[in-house]
Amino acid sequence: MKRWRLDFRIWHWIHAAVVLGLLGTVFLRKTFLSWRTNSELLTQKLFEINLEITAEQAKVLAKAIRAPMWEWHIILGYALAALLLWRAILFFTQSGKQNYQNLKEENVYKKIVKLGYIVIYGVLVFMAVSGLMIHFYEALGLTKDVAHDIKEIHELVFNAILIFVPLHIIGVFIAENQDEKGIISDMVNGGDEK
Ligand code: HEM
Ligand code: HEM
Repeated sequence: MKRWRLDFRIWHWIHAAVVLGLLGTVFLRKTFLSWRTNSELLTQKLFEINLEITAEQAKVLAKAIRAPMWEWHIILGYALAALLLWRAILFFTQSGKQNYQNLKEENVYKKIVKLGYIVIYGVLVFMAVSGLMIHFYEALGLTKDVAHDIKEIHELVFNAILIFVPLHIIGVFIAENQDEKGIISDMVNGGDEK
């Protein structure tokens, strides 16, 4: 039997791509497609061709330019919610639970890494639930103010993902080069059962 079943590996890599994609949409929203930057740019460039627009009109235009990109945040958001349900089912398989068994026998570092995975699963569930709540606030009977407050927390908790992802990638690279040779390729080819 392989250490990681094929379905777990497929889950891991799709999940990694979706989370990186979500981070990508946030990056674009806060940089190249920021409505604040782009509304100023539009105002200035239109002024150069003798078209004067108000700050409010510039904001509408800049947000319209951002909108098709941000749709991907929602599409990937649905994908994340589905992937988390899939992960819950995978907990019933050996591949899905092996990292969380016999924790007492592990060293402190491994215990922290595994605890980190559990924390990040909790954070991801929170991101999915809060994201869906903001998106469907009207259907859920929430006021705009409440939806706004949830968004503030969603945005704050996002930092935990921002910290986890690079730490995780650097961590497995270091492990691969030290005492856990094959840790990355195991997640690709399944590896041998430990
Ligand atoms: C793209 C580079 C990535 C590489 C090379 C990579 C590699 C790995 C490897 C080798 C493991 C097994 C480690 C172990 O058994 O302790 C693992 C587990 C894991 N990875 Fe990644 N990963 C990547 C990206 C991501 C991303 C973006 C996420 C998103 C949050 C993620 C989430 C996880 C989680 C939650 C586990 C624990 C699986 C379990 O429950 O046992 N990974 N990853
Ligand atoms: C890894 C998971 C996720 C991360 C890191 C993330 C990150 C963020 C961040 C940082 C913001 C604030 C953007 C800003 O105002 O500058 C945001 C807003 C939002 N997110 Fe997420 N998110 C995630 C998952 C989801 C999911 C699963 C959904 C649900 C479909 C979702 C829906 C939304 C919505 C509706 C907004 C508000 C956008 C607006 O005010 O127009 N997010 N997200």
